[in-house]
Amino acid sequence: MHETTLVIGANGQIGTELVTELRNIYGSDYVVACDIRRPDYDTKNAGPFEFVNVLDKENLKAIFQKYKPSAIYLLAAILSATGEQNPKLAWDLNMNGLLNVLDFALDFNVKKVYWPSSIAVFGPNSPKEHTSQYCVMDPNTVYGISKLAGERWCEYYFNKHGLDVRSIRYPGLISWKAAPGGGTTDYAIHIFHDALKKASYNSFLNAETRLPMMYMDDAIRGTIELMEAPVEKLSIRSSYNFTGMDFTPEELAIEIRKHIPDFKLNYSAHDPRQAIADSWPKSIDDSFAQRDWNWKPEFDMARMTEEMLRHLRK
Ligand code: SER
Repeated sequence: MHETTLVIGANGQIGTELVTELRNIYGSDYVVACDIRRPDYDTKNAGPFEFVNVLDKENLKAIFQKYKPSAIYLLAAILSATGEQNPKLAWDLNMNGLLNVLDFALDFNVKKVYWPSSIAVFGPNSPKEHTSQYCVMDPNTVYGISKLAGERWCEYYFNKHGLDVRSIRYPGLISWKAAPGGGTTDYAIHIFHDALKKASYNSFLNAETRLPMMYMDDAIRGTIELMEAPVEKLSIRSSYNFTGMDFTPEELAIEIRKHIPDFKLNYSAHDPRQAIADSWPKSIDDSFAQRDWNWKPEFDMARMTEEMLRHLRK
C-alpha cells in the first residue's frame, strides 16, 4: 500500500510550493493538500484537497481516519505581524493546532511529523550575530512565544512518546509563487513586486535592519532533506537553526539596482514591525543542520534577486 502525506496549511506561502514538490516526489495522489481555504494554484498541480480546520478536532480526526497518513506537515499558523493584532487567536491556532495534530499523530501511528519553527523564537537578549542553536531565548511576540513553546512540545512528544517530530527554525522566506503570510520579513518580497511595478519601494523596516533570509527553493529542499534524513543522525528534537543569507533593506536595494538602475528605496517611520525585527537575530549559526543532515544553501542574495526578478517579470 502506498503511504499518504498530509500537508495542513497547503495554500500558504510555504505549502503552495511544498505540496508541488512532494507531489513530484511521491505522486500527486499520495499528497493530500489541506487548508481552511480553497486552493488557488493551477490545475496542473491538482491532487486531493480537503477542508481542514486544525482547531476542529472532529474534522481533523475524520481526515486522519480517511487517509491514515504516514507523514504530516503542519504549516497552518499566524505569523509575527498578524499575530500581534490578535494575540489570543495566534496562540490558539499556533499552539492548540500543534497539540491536536501531535495527539492524532500518536493515535493514528503517524511515522513522521514536520512542524516549522522560526527565528522568532529568539528575543532581545539573544545574541544577534551568528545566533547559536542554544542561547538565551526570550521571544516577545506572541508568534515567537508560541513557536518556542511548540518546540518544547515537539521535543516532549519525541522523548515521552517516541513520536518522530522534525522541525526547522525558518528565517524570512523569499518567494514569488504565493503571497507571504503577514510576517516581519515580508518586505523582502514586496520590494521585488514594487521594484518591477514602479521602480520604488517604501520599506517598513529601516535601512540597517539586518535579518536572516532564505530563498524558497532552498527552504523546500532543506525541509525535505530533513524529513528524509536517517533518524539516527538527528540530534535536535526541538527545532534546527537554519539559514541561507542575511542582508539589510539597503543592501537588497543595491542588488536590485544592478537590474533596475533607477530603483528608489524609501523608508516609512514608526512601523510596529521594526521593533519585532530589532528583537530578532541578524544572522544565524546553523552548524547543527550542516553537521547532522548536510545542510547547504544554494542561493545567495545575488542569485535570489535574479530569480525573483526573472519569475515576477513573466
Ligand atoms: N517570516 C516570519 C515572520 O516574519 C518569521 O518566521 O513572521
